Amino acid sequence: MPKKINDNFLWGASTSAYQFEGGYNADRKGLSVQDVRNNYPEGTTNFEVASDHYNKWKEDVKMMSELGLKSYRFSISWTRILPNGRGDINKKGLEFYNNLINELIKYNITPIVTIYHFDLPDKLDKDGGWHNKNIIEDFLNYSKILFENFGDRVNHWLTINEQNIMILFGEIVGIKIPETENKIKYLYQINHNMMVAQAKVINLCHKTLSNSKIGPAPNIACVYPGTSKPIDNLAAFNMKVMRNWFYLDTCVFGRYNKLVLNYLRENNSMFEYTIEEMNEINSAKPDFIAFNYYTSSTAIFPFSDKLFDEMPSQQKIKSVKGMYQQVKNDNLNKTDFGWEIDAIGFRNTLRELYDRYNLPLLITENGIGGYDKIDNNYQIHDQYRIKYYKEHIKQMKIAILQDNIDIIGYNPWSAFDLVSTHEGVKKRYGFIYVDREDFDLKECKRYKKDSFYWYKNLIENNANEL
Ligand code: BG6
Repeated sequence: MPKKINDNFLWGASTSAYQFEGGYNADRKGLSVQDVRNNYPEGTTNFEVASDHYNKWKEDVKMMSELGLKSYRFSISWTRILPNGRGDINKKGLEFYNNLINELIKYNITPIVTIYHFDLPDKLDKDGGWHNKNIIEDFLNYSKILFENFGDRVNHWLTINEQNIMILFGEIVGIKIPETENKIKYLYQINHNMMVAQAKVINLCHKTLSNSKIGPAPNIACVYPGTSKPIDNLAAFNMKVMRNWFYLDTCVFGRYNKLVLNYLRENNSMFEYTIEEMNEINSAKPDFIAFNYYTSSTAIFPFSDKLFDEMPSQQKIKSVKGMYQQVKNDNLNKTDFGWEIDAIGFRNTLRELYDRYNLPLLITENGIGGYDKIDNNYQIHDQYRIKYYKEHIKQMKIAILQDNIDIIGYNPWSAFDLVSTHEGVKKRYGFIYVDREDFDLKECKRYKKDSFYWYKNLIENNANEL
């Protein structure tokens, strides 16, 4: 049993390209589905400038080193590398990420690279996006370019960020479904195509990069039954499988979970697959499971759509007819944006994941979005964020030291303030404040929040004081 957290533990922080970089059309970058979106909720900005990291990357890495980060998890923008999604490579795009990676390494910060984080090239989207099987080769080619250009320095790769959220709640992250289509079948076809693409990329990584490790990065959360009624326990199990295990069983065990296949067949929504594709999926083995955790879920057997309609946005992982309905958990406090806070749920999730898959775990997101205010002395007192992290890291520490779970690193969301997927800049997540508002860009200057100093200290003493 370990007595303390391993000295190599990757204490890090996380961002994604479209939410952080800006420079949406700089230096020949092509447009992604996020750049052409026009359905922003009222009062919420777009992603054109984001946190202006494209221009401030050097000072940003310096601040990361001041924070003491051992790792930085970021995504690469597909259209910065391939403006049309395929074909012509943009040298300026390669240069940007080469510079960023070199700078991180200069400060001994391990780069953890997400290949794809919600920002599909618009050109490919217009060609059917993830629903068109051609995308499997496109994704493979794009990944190959990343491996060839950055694989000598990047040893940690993540395939697809939150594939399960894209399938379960895709509208807010850019998934469009033509009205004429059978919605369930359409989404699960997208899922299957992503699974095949992911498998090919995992295999390519293992074949070409001997020092690299690669894994998926879904959003995973434990699920409680809303009551002790046996039928609600059944609903919680359904949700657990449909939300979590379906995705990871496919990636780790190389087969689709039967409960979901039954559901699809009963709803005449089975996706199209070939034996070769299933063999490909079966042959690819991830080295670790990366996952994002913000909050747990609670489910009952479905009885009405009313409760579902009342849920806050991202907790609204759709209730599924005949399977489960997500409900509020009155035992938990909520963030300013209505997300339930559940640190013990974090430990539960770690235990369930490790018990089921027995693979090392890498936490790629965890954090709390809130309204931060900068005062006249340029200070930001985000004590609520420190409290959230204290509680969650404490539970992670118990999971490592007591439950003996193999965890490689913890990369909270987010290093800097950035643009939320659908709630703008006002919903801040960072250790570092970015001085801009939704509709007033100012100069995007950076300021350290109280949580910055707290996290820096925690990293320095390897969480010994918690
Ligand atoms: C995860 C995503 O779903 O949660 C991030 O990987 C996202 O891209 C984060 O920003 C927080 O969600 P939101 O909706 O508050 O931005």
